[in-house]
Amino acid sequence: MPPRKSPKRKADVNEYRHEDATSPMRPEVGTQPQFKKKKPPAAYRYDSSLAPELQWDEGNTRAREEGEALIREVLNAPTLEAARAAAARLAALGRPFLNWAGKAERGAFTVPTLPLFIHERLATQAIIVTLKGHRRDKQEDLFDLFADPRHTLREQVLGAYEHADKWVNRMILGDSLVAMNSLLRYESLGGQVQMIYMDPPYGVKFGSNFQPFVRRRDVKDGDDDHLSREPEMVRAYRDTWELGLHSYLSYLRDRLLLCRDLLHPSGSIFVQISDENVHHVREVMDEVFGHDNFCGELAFRKTGGQSSLLTASVHDYLLWYAKDRAVVKYRKVFKSKVEITERPSIYRWVESPDKKTRRKMTKEEFEGSESIDNGWRIFAPDNLASLGKTETGSGEFTFDGVTYKPGHNQHWKTTQDGLNKLAVAGRLIPVSTSLYYIRYLDDFPLIAFDSIWADTSAGGYSDDKSYVVQTNRKVVQRCLLMTTDPGDLVLDPTCGSGTTAYVAEQWGRRWITMDVSRVPLALARQRLLTATFPWYELQSEPRGPASGFVYTRKQNNKGEEVGGIVPHVTLKSIANDLPPEEEVLVDRPEVKGGVTRVAGPFVVEATIPTPIDWEGDGVEDSAPPGASTAGHADYIARMLEALRLSPVLHVGGGKKVTLAKVRPPAKTLSLAAEAVVANGPGGDKVVALVFGPENGAVSEALVANAAKEANAKNYAHLYVIGFAVQAAARQFVEDCEKIAGVAATYIQATPDLVMGDLLKNMRSSQLFSVCGLPDVRVTKLKGKENAGKWQVELRGLDVFDPATMEAHHLAGDDVPAWLLDTDYNGSCFHVCQAFFPRTGAWENLKKALRAEYDEAVWDHLAGAVSAPFEAGETATVAVKVIDDRGNELMVVRDLREGAK
Ligand SMILES: C[S@@+](CC[C@H](N)C(=O)[O-])C[C@H]1O[C@@H](n2cnc3c(N)ncnc32)[C@H](O)[C@@H]1O
Repeated sequence: MPPRKSPKRKADVNEYRHEDATSPMRPEVGTQPQFKKKKPPAAYRYDSSLAPELQWDEGNTRAREEGEALIREVLNAPTLEAARAAAARLAALGRPFLNWAGKAERGAFTVPTLPLFIHERLATQAIIVTLKGHRRDKQEDLFDLFADPRHTLREQVLGAYEHADKWVNRMILGDSLVAMNSLLRYESLGGQVQMIYMDPPYGVKFGSNFQPFVRRRDVKDGDDDHLSREPEMVRAYRDTWELGLHSYLSYLRDRLLLCRDLLHPSGSIFVQISDENVHHVREVMDEVFGHDNFCGELAFRKTGGQSSLLTASVHDYLLWYAKDRAVVKYRKVFKSKVEITERPSIYRWVESPDKKTRRKMTKEEFEGSESIDNGWRIFAPDNLASLGKTETGSGEFTFDGVTYKPGHNQHWKTTQDGLNKLAVAGRLIPVSTSLYYIRYLDDFPLIAFDSIWADTSAGGYSDDKSYVVQTNRKVVQRCLLMTTDPGDLVLDPTCGSGTTAYVAEQWGRRWITMDVSRVPLALARQRLLTATFPWYELQSEPRGPASGFVYTRKQNNKGEEVGGIVPHVTLKSIANDLPPEEEVLVDRPEVKGGVTRVAGPFVVEATIPTPIDWEGDGVEDSAPPGASTAGHADYIARMLEALRLSPVLHVGGGKKVTLAKVRPPAKTLSLAAEAVVANGPGGDKVVALVFGPENGAVSEALVANAAKEANAKNYAHLYVIGFAVQAAARQFVEDCEKIAGVAATYIQATPDLVMGDLLKNMRSSQLFSVCGLPDVRVTKLKGKENAGKWQVELRGLDVFDPATMEAHHLAGDDVPAWLLDTDYNGSCFHVCQAFFPRTGAWENLKKALRAEYDEAVWDHLAGAVSAPFEAGETATVAVKVIDDRGNELMVVRDLREGAK
């Protein structure tokens, strides 16, 4: 493929593009009805040679069979080597192991194999360009800013997953098991991820695992109002934590297995975990990755200690495993030795500037309560001899008239000539009866991080938390710098507020992140979109970060090394008259001044979960792990029962509709039920009902099929009842009469219906209520300056609170976020303007670009009225509003029809 022309970018705002990398073409969200490349669910097996159940009792037939097979292998082995190998595996079966309920039964599992559809394209550059001068640049350039390859519907349907597109970073909404399986099975991404950072919920408390509101960080376990009402979340929780810690371990083991498949042979995985379960998780990781691939258990200081009657717990852990420890990619990350508290204790001596006086530090100097005089150098007398006698290296050496020997069964670390050179360089010091090498602290003023990271609690690191369980950036950054290079691929299956994506973006790594909940993804999207980073100079700008960063040697006026290359003076270099070795400090690349770097283009993707086979082709289109068609029939029966018990639908404006005679239709393809509405105008009417999936959002296809059938069968109205609804489906309902000839209403069902025993008492008899669309006004502007341009105002939004079953009106400038696509193509949403009302979200960028943009531009992005814009080719705009629970509601307006 010829290299794509670089988009025109302003010199002062720039971004990294991964020009060398590609990924398989993924379809956009509008194409799912045509998408035919289904794949069967994928089966995963635990490597039985690693499963350590050596329980010869009756219950564990698998271990017994395996043990017996190995004994046979030993007996019949053709060679001694083969017998030894089989015996070793047999012995491994007998190691102590961690067992839990359901482990032995789960020797294999299947995961639905689902395609990922692109829902949104985002690029900060595109927003900046759109705002500048309030007009669209040439269409071409704008799509390039989004890195949108602009495939036609036909190309997408025929070419999806077959052709390669330029790389864009990716945020995926979905269960990590399903999403990772899709990366493996649809995209063959196995063996390509260099580093995985996984920060799973630390334990099994439901409430404290998930943050249900975009703008509220306080989450209390056990408080029902604080529970997530996202159906996918409830479902994920119910399925995965059903047996408490037992299911938690199964949940982790499954995901770790897929992580292992995704890792590059030299790749690493870090799992962040607290002291509550670190011991269990380490056992599980030993099993999945192999004990030999354990690289370290790192302790890092967390923000604020957990108060306790006993010692406060102030740190969490990182369990670090390699795919293959023998070839793991590892870059040393250093910290300064100079900070007194960190200085290794061997550095206890000082030398005067004229080198005439050398003495031990006073106690106060060593402890730091007294400073060391200017110009005095700190040093440590270090061993000049190593263990083992050698013929040439163990002779006598005379220094200052005294003769020294290297010590019993030892040899000098260098030759006699080398020792002479050390003497000339003033590097030798007699202490007591031995001769030592003088190692100055500034020979190399840094030391590689060890397994205790004490500098990672927040404070001074400008790491404002937006998510209850947000990880300190420093922690992820260190892992990333230790185990990856620029351009490498990094994955986080537990996105949360997107710390890994943020850090990867900062350091020029490619990233994929995923989360089952919409709330954290909304936070992560905002964090990435509004971020600014330094521009680290690249070896080759056309090639992008994969070419590497530029590092140079620099000293400040105190003579301290402040560059990315630091000389490392060693005994060897002095003794051999060699220039000092050089260390690269991977966290200190050259920074180009005067450039504001923003996040490169990224996409938001999701699987389209529909739990049954809508296509009728025998392949289940989607289902969360474990769901079955029989389960679906149960679910429909439960919904019908709920409707019979609670037949009043709240349809907005204080109006109610009462359903009678709710029953399944005699013969149906798409409808779930029919009912009689007796209290509507014009007497009794028979209406049709369709239910969205139990564990996902109502899709456009679901509404379209139901509407077609409802119209053909002359139902008076269609009620679409769901727990969540995709934006396009919500819009379809709105336009249903026009498109499909039957009017439709979307009814929000309270997720309490599927929460079952998680919520013991349902507080309300109002189980179903209408869910409004954003109230949007589109205006054609007049006046000289803006003539012909358009402006969108978000006037408000009715939100339904599933906890109280009440609808509230939110003013347009009181929503957490809203997005505008000024040229909506009917499928993928291109974020041309992104509004975070009444927040300082854009503050960094605003500061950086102060000279370029007038204040009014930023006022728009913090309010409810868009900046003016020109109509695009499609003459259609789409407005997407994110509510506090992370729900997305979308309205589409046709500019040709004029402002509504
Ligand atoms: C501890 S948080 C991660 C926080 C993150 N490190 C940060 O800095 O914000 C764990 C995240 O995992 C997500 N999660 C839990 N189960 C999941 C699953 N099965 N698939 C994907 N994400 C899941 C939760 O929604 C939550 O956002």
